[in-house]
Amino acid sequence: MIHLYQQATEADRPTLVLFHGTGGTERDLLPLSQLMSPGSAVLSLRGNVLENGMPRFFRRLGQGVFDEVDLVHRTKEVHKFLDKAAEQYGFDRANVAAVGYSNGANIIASLVFHFPNVLRAAILHHPMVPLWGRQLPNLFSMPVFIGAGTNDPICSPAETDELKKLLTQAGAAVTVHWEQHGHQLTRPEVEAAAAWYHAEV
Ligand code: MLT
Repeated sequence: MIHLYQQATEADRPTLVLFHGTGGTERDLLPLSQLMSPGSAVLSLRGNVLENGMPRFFRRLGQGVFDEVDLVHRTKEVHKFLDKAAEQYGFDRANVAAVGYSNGANIIASLVFHFPNVLRAAILHHPMVPLWGRQLPNLFSMPVFIGAGTNDPICSPAETDELKKLLTQAGAAVTVHWEQHGHQLTRPEVEAAAAWYHAEV
């Protein structure tokens, strides 16, 4: 996968893996990682799928209607890539936190739905429920931050509540932070995520 990697400047900090939103690149979320954990190694991915020239992490059939076969395939692809990158760059695969926005948050949620112990923590900005009717693995108190919008036209508050419920039932420790700026990722939301990260991870 196209990606960039920045070495840690402080040992033992979790490696941050970044997943952009539709039409983004591996550079988009770099400022977030600086705010969250400046000394961490950063692995930032670019989605392998193109939708009218816009990078994404999996195909969709329409707004909010996911191509489930492709989503499962791409989830496994990212999972393998993380294992390979840990070997290649020498970071601790067991000490990885993922940060994603929108489509990037959805692929992270799908990773968490599929694989036990895949992440130490997840920061999801405006995620949806990636797949319905799945048995989730035991999440063993994994800290999860969800940034949501009371008026988000893409990720409805009801779906945010449902995602929180599914993750909590699987054992995750979920915090939801609400904003009123639709689907946008705003500075106050990013600051709330960073404050949460400093307290919980
Ligand atoms: C998705 O397709 O993952 C969601 O609809 C969010 C988006 O990327 O617009």
